[in-house]
Amino acid sequence: MADGSSETKSSNQMWGGRFASGPDAIMEEINASIGFDKKLYAQDIRGSMAHATMLAHQGIISAEDKDKIVHGLDTILSEIESGAFEFSRRLEDIHMNVEARLATLIGSAAGRLHTARSRNDQVALDFRLWVKEELQKTEKALTALIAAFLDRAEEHADTVMPGFTHLQTAQPVTFGHHCMAYVEMFGRDRSRVRHAIEHMDESPIGAAALAGTGFPIDRHMTAKALGFREPTRNSIDTVSDRDFALEFLSIASIAATHLSRLAEEIVIWSTPQFGFIRLSDAFSTGSSIMPQKKNPDAAELVRAKTGRINGSLIALLTVMKGLPLAYSKDMQEDKEQVFDAAESLELAIAAMTGMVRDMTVRADRMKAAAGSGYSTATDLADWLVREAGLPFRDAHHVTGRAVALAEQKGCDLADLSLADLQSIHAAITEKVFDVLTVEASVASRTSFGGTAPAEVRKQIAWWRGRN
Ligand code: ARG
Repeated sequence: MADGSSETKSSNQMWGGRFASGPDAIMEEINASIGFDKKLYAQDIRGSMAHATMLAHQGIISAEDKDKIVHGLDTILSEIESGAFEFSRRLEDIHMNVEARLATLIGSAAGRLHTARSRNDQVALDFRLWVKEELQKTEKALTALIAAFLDRAEEHADTVMPGFTHLQTAQPVTFGHHCMAYVEMFGRDRSRVRHAIEHMDESPIGAAALAGTGFPIDRHMTAKALGFREPTRNSIDTVSDRDFALEFLSIASIAATHLSRLAEEIVIWSTPQFGFIRLSDAFSTGSSIMPQKKNPDAAELVRAKTGRINGSLIALLTVMKGLPLAYSKDMQEDKEQVFDAAESLELAIAAMTGMVRDMTVRADRMKAAAGSGYSTATDLADWLVREAGLPFRDAHHVTGRAVALAEQKGCDLADLSLADLQSIHAAITEKVFDVLTVEASVASRTSFGGTAPAEVRKQIAWWRGRN
């Protein structure tokens, strides 16, 4: 092509839009992680300070160089925090951005910082520190959610509601008991978080590129300085491992699944048809066209965030699957998934804690629903076993006939007359009416972990004692 302008045009067509300048621009775009890994700046700087201090302590660099490095890193930290730092995509990632700035600030001493380490152990360190801190935040957030549920459970230990299986009325339970089911779920999530923190409490720095180093470093010293229990034991595994990120994402997915079940119940409970709760204005919105509506948007969005979080878990599992040891650049794709899931989870837990604290529980509606749908049928069958000595299977059959009769008369079991009941089984006495009310039904379920208010209060006390 003789003419310059048509040459530009043809390379434009070839590379398109923002890649007009060709392979270099494409490489920079696919290779750079600074756009997202700048989030790791504080961990990166802390890690470098600990590393430089250890190098000086071991006589690998001079105390003078160490002081310059630490001072320079401090300056960079303030520059980033004040917004004055200029991140460069050409420098790829947070590690090289910080190191390049250090060289500008302190000159050749900066070049000594990277002795006995590689970006492979550096990124493993930074990211692990970040995930560990995020898990500590998650633990606190779950504790606040559990506390909100414990308060509601205590307040409603006697509030009767229908318990469901298949979303069909099954047996009466208390709202307190239902709240405590979520305390159990979020309590398990919290213990998974605690285990994961322990699991990942090993320092990667000093594994170097993959094989360790010949410099006389002290990995126990850096581990201690960075708040880890001990250093990792295998340098190859250290730079290959992203289990800590996968563990975070799987815990987040399970917790999000629990949150989405609760979100779904809130959506159902707040419909006019159920009317079990009323959401506060803070967590619902009006419709722009239908003035009567109050939509549970926050709950719906919590339900949807689960899809995102699960997606992140699958994405990273798929990135890691089949990667040969040790480091491969594929692993750079770990961060955005974890950052996005962490943000979604934090928000979902906070929104749920707010909704649980603020919602108005409509005990009258719950009680009315608890009595309908023949929810005390099992109580009648149990009474026949206990008081009339029937085998449970026969009692079940007799009760089925009582339900059919009530259905035919269009009334509840408790509204049948004694004569009606005796026409089905002669052994039935007046005393049966004591168990046909929903209050009597829940009060009778005193087995360990059962719905009786006294039992639920014991479980609340147990959880209060173990924050
Ligand atoms: N930005 C890289 C990442 O996030 C840092 C490690 C780069 N290591 C390498 N050998 N290229 O994974």
